[in-house]
Amino acid sequence: MSDRLLLATKNCGKIEEMCDLLRGLSRLTLLTHDDIPFADVEETGVTFLANALLKARAASLETGLASLAEDAGLEVAALGGAPGVRSARFSGEPVDYARNNALLLEKLRGVADRRGRFVAVTVLYLPGGRVFTTSGSLDGAIASEPRGEGGFGYDPVFVPVGETRTLAEFALGEKNLVSHRHRSLEAMIPTIEQLLAEGALG
Ligand code: IMP
Repeated sequence: MSDRLLLATKNCGKIEEMCDLLRGLSRLTLLTHDDIPFADVEETGVTFLANALLKARAASLETGLASLAEDAGLEVAALGGAPGVRSARFSGEPVDYARNNALLLEKLRGVADRRGRFVAVTVLYLPGGRVFTTSGSLDGAIASEPRGEGGFGYDPVFVPVGETRTLAEFALGEKNLVSHRHRSLEAMIPTIEQLLAEGALG
């Protein structure tokens, strides 16, 4: 029985975070695109779940391995959930975090409701087509201006509930402990452990 799991992402930050969380699981061999190359897929889904499924399914079909993928973004209440799945390209191509943040602040200028949340959806796709999904979120508010040098994306304008600092003012380890991505991945661990115990990952 196989105990190999392919991380279906080419994003180094995600790979590092996934490895950190999953390397404690005995009998599990984590593989990345460095070990087994796979093609990029276009993220054409209209939900995080659809995009995570697209990525996990494509990598699994191409390699024959159990594959884990994740999709995430920022939802802002006053913008009806935007930028959502368009988070990376909110202000157009090429992806530019500073321009995205400037556009977000512009759209929220004078808006009292600053509520936002990061959402992450994780999909585990097994050869044969069994699918497992988990999600995680982090509630917060959009700041009035960017602050902090750490993190990426919308971190400089996002203040988690109960905090005064933006996520870009958190230490990296500190952010990872509360992040939507961490919560979503962590929720997948019992499923992976169960599949390992059953020898059902491969
Ligand atoms: P991805 O699908 O996880 O690559 O995320 C898509 C986009 O959502 C990123 O390009 C960022 O703009 C935004 N995003 C996702 N997670 C985070 C985060 O933890 N902090 C800041 N921005 C994020």
